[in-house]
Amino acid sequence: MQVRKAVFPVAGLGTRFLPATKAMPKEMLTVVDKPLIQYAVEEALSSGITEIIFVTGRSKQAIEDHFDHFCELEQTLMARSKNALLREINHLVPESGTFIYTRQNEPLGLGHAIWCARKIVGNEPFAVLLADDLIKSEKPVIGQMIEQFNRLNASIVCVEEVDRSATASYGILDADMPKDRLTKVRGLVEKPQPDQAPSNLAIIGRYVLTPEIFDILELKETGAGGEIQITDAMARLLDQQALYGYRYQGTRFDCGSKVGFQMANIAFALERPDMRVRLLPFLQQLCK
Ligand code: G1P
Repeated sequence: MQVRKAVFPVAGLGTRFLPATKAMPKEMLTVVDKPLIQYAVEEALSSGITEIIFVTGRSKQAIEDHFDHFCELEQTLMARSKNALLREINHLVPESGTFIYTRQNEPLGLGHAIWCARKIVGNEPFAVLLADDLIKSEKPVIGQMIEQFNRLNASIVCVEEVDRSATASYGILDADMPKDRLTKVRGLVEKPQPDQAPSNLAIIGRYVLTPEIFDILELKETGAGGEIQITDAMARLLDQQALYGYRYQGTRFDCGSKVGFQMANIAFALERPDMRVRLLPFLQQLCK
């Protein structure tokens, strides 16, 4: 069955970016001139996803407003003949009913956030994108994974090799190193210490999941950090179904960390010819 729906868990508090995120959702932090959430939504839309499901929380209003008309602004841009900008902001506004918002009203973990979308997803495979992981690639990463899903008809998680010392920041696979980008998963552990980690293959925030995951999440079992973890639910899914790790093509920026976020800004800005001419000499000067 076609993957048509994508879930965006955006209820997190963004404490790592305080004070910036005190009154603003962390997903609205910008890389150059675009909020993180917009990169992720565009990735999904250009991969054939037609329904965008946000699992939001208190103080996330800005995300809803970002993907809606802003009449006063549009009229002003029109009056000033700023047509390119007008097109740029209007293409963000979806057809009514295709962007759906639901709330996670208790902070019980990523697995719980995904479970909150169960009634909207229904009985079909779906994608999950974590906007914190910003990936620069020729072909959108969730699209790469949907292609694999169509071939394998099994759940897929995005993976990357990380330094052993970093395993406690990620879901980690028990699996062999990918061959032709794929590896069959034997098990998964959420945020293990380096000496407990079954490998250094870390889960990156892109998933294509079969709907059976909801029955497991329904059990509301807690794991690492006392939270309901999607990693644990996928480990349980292995009792019923195969699961694959997919080594994506592209470069990932961990925009959930301050340093990763700055790196993303530099890398994306250097790609813009108008910015590059001034930024590159400036960076070279700074590094002397
Ligand atoms: C979440 C998941 C983790 C995954 C990571 C990817 O952790 O729980 O398994 O490796 O996203 O970004 P978080 O970064 O929300 O702590």
